[in-house]
Amino acid sequence: MEILDDPVKIKSLDSLDMLGVEEKFYDQLIEAKKIAQSVDISRLKLPNTAGIAILGMGGSGFAGDIVKSLVIDSVAVPVEIVKGYELPGFVAGNWLVIGVSYSGNTEETISAVRQALKRGCELLAVSAGGEIERIAEQNGKTHVKVPSGYQPRGASGYLFFTTFLLLGRLGFIKISDNEIEEALSLISEKAELYGRNTGTEKNPAKKLAVELFGRLPVIYGINGFLSTVAYRWKCEINENSKCPCFWAEFPELNHNETVGWDNLKEQTQKMVLVVFRDAGASDKIRVRIETTVKLIREQFDLVVEVPVEGKSRLAKALSTIYLGDIASVYLAFLYNTDPTPVDRIAVLKAELAKLD
Ligand code: PA5
Repeated sequence: MEILDDPVKIKSLDSLDMLGVEEKFYDQLIEAKKIAQSVDISRLKLPNTAGIAILGMGGSGFAGDIVKSLVIDSVAVPVEIVKGYELPGFVAGNWLVIGVSYSGNTEETISAVRQALKRGCELLAVSAGGEIERIAEQNGKTHVKVPSGYQPRGASGYLFFTTFLLLGRLGFIKISDNEIEEALSLISEKAELYGRNTGTEKNPAKKLAVELFGRLPVIYGINGFLSTVAYRWKCEINENSKCPCFWAEFPELNHNETVGWDNLKEQTQKMVLVVFRDAGASDKIRVRIETTVKLIREQFDLVVEVPVEGKSRLAKALSTIYLGDIASVYLAFLYNTDPTPVDRIAVLKAELAKLD
């Protein structure tokens, strides 16, 4: 565990400074705010928009997931997440389609963007460049350029926050200055606490990584934004820590998965269960979590309860995402693993490109 408090070893393992990217998450959010503000939205033709489809895969697809989960009970039109080649049939010419791809070259997203253009949808493209930028420009559509040089999952602040703030500027949702201020100040506070210079004893992100180390993590979220956060933790543990990880959400998991913790004890005794504790959750959800943990605690080597911090949904989501993101980087170090490369994703993309 000493590696977590050894900056020299961390530097030698972290080839492209993923930890540094995480430590600067606050700066990324501030820059995303400026980018969202600078977009010329007058070109977007949105009379009587019937719905919003947000396209994107993997690290970029997360932008749509989290935006949807944050706006779902205030937005006046349906928000559809598309994670594949095909745009659903009901996405018609009066929909706004937001195509998010960090590289701009992800084939599923390009395919769905092309279908959107054929149907006459309004397009807002978000990328650091690539084919998606070219398609948007060729078709006279709005392209939001985010800075290049990151891994898509390390650019989530740019991709998600820009999209979220633009929905506010376009009038689809109301975002208060207070909730933005609260979220940003919480992230700024956590950057110090979770950063490499805070020792493991006082650093909740390093402590969490130690708890996850050597155990197979299962993350239980709560339907709504904390479900998206649980999925984000799973993906970050997969991609940064190069470790299997599974997730599910309350209350759905109470109707199936809860029953599944009887057999394979030898295997489950090497697992760690993570549950979120949100003071704002309903009594029903609170009792579900408490009862479930009581029912299945013995099957796990460890159960970790993570308090959700913040008042607004935005602050809660961002601060909990931040804890998971940065802990997954520390977990990579504990496994003596470089968090940045995702070689298998590149291999798959190259194999598929041969079909074009
Ligand atoms: O984290 C990753 O590298 C992947 O999940 C990518 O985000 C995914 O393959 C899609 O690529 P892009 O984000 O460039 O559209």
